[in-house]
Amino acid sequence: MCPISAPFPAARFRRLRQTPALRALAQENTLSVGDLIWPVFVRDGMGMREPVASMPGVARLSVDLVVEAAEEAADLGIPAICLFPYTDPTLKTEGCEEAWNPDNLTNRAIRAIKAAVPQIAVMTDVALDPYNSLGHDGLVRDGVVLNDETLEALVRQALVQAEAGADIIGPSDMMDGRIGALRQALEMAGHKGVVLMSYAAKYASAFYGPFRDAVGASGALKGDKKTYQMNPANSDEAMRLIERDLREGADMVMVKPGMPYLDIIRRAKDTFGAPTYAYQVSGEYAMIKGAAERGWIDGERAMLESLMAFRRAGCDGVLTNFAPEAARAIRARRA
Ligand code: PBG
Repeated sequence: MCPISAPFPAARFRRLRQTPALRALAQENTLSVGDLIWPVFVRDGMGMREPVASMPGVARLSVDLVVEAAEEAADLGIPAICLFPYTDPTLKTEGCEEAWNPDNLTNRAIRAIKAAVPQIAVMTDVALDPYNSLGHDGLVRDGVVLNDETLEALVRQALVQAEAGADIIGPSDMMDGRIGALRQALEMAGHKGVVLMSYAAKYASAFYGPFRDAVGASGALKGDKKTYQMNPANSDEAMRLIERDLREGADMVMVKPGMPYLDIIRRAKDTFGAPTYAYQVSGEYAMIKGAAERGWIDGERAMLESLMAFRRAGCDGVLTNFAPEAARAIRARRA
């Protein structure tokens, strides 16, 4: 692009900012409800809504209330909901077997949502951390997170999710070779329409803290995830990972966290042109909510500005805990 403008005063950029009408005409990007994916935390029980302290406004919901949340999302026009289980600590093992239990929380929630709200897309997370007594996304032996052995476990986990009716499967584990392994297994099992959204460029980030509280993984995890999640200093590596995952059969790619990594999103969109998503993670949500609660910022405006930033950076959509609140604001035309 070669932007041309006349010298001042022939060019006055303020001309197009004078009124709401002119600003609307000159607006380059838009945010709509159809851009939102809502992450929801699932727990066991009935009629249970258990607030997550580090994420004001977010609660762990029992399956019956997750179904209500899916109905609310569908009514608002949110196209997809993404499930994360809070697994009872007694079900967590080093072998992570609960991950491929066809009746685990995630799979029960998928079936319940699909029965009640078939029009909403259900996305799931593929990674072992909610089921792992050691808190890691992969199987651990002698303190090492194993790659190839983990792939087999991820395939088993994904196949039961597809069987339960998941529309979009989101591998968030960062093992090498998982997209190819999952794609091949899904095709062979006849799940040809299941979409893979790869958490392709997922960084080892401090911004996941509140999420780990929400899924109950904080206590279990010893150490960090730096041997599989990316170094925040790297950008070229993100392009190589995204290219690799697209070649292995990813339909959509994600950058995570979101706001600190807008440069990666723009680069990915410009380089590959693939359907590109950001995860506005729990810590980003908590920062905006926490500051708003103290009256330090206007929470709604900060929320909408942060979401528009993802669109401007090149995102086709955003996973955000703000999804229902943002949808209501957008529908009220405050965005
Ligand atoms: C783990 C997973 C994480 C998130 C989504 N899937 C956390 C982690 O990698 O430790 C983070 C989401 C958020 O912070 O909102 N498989």
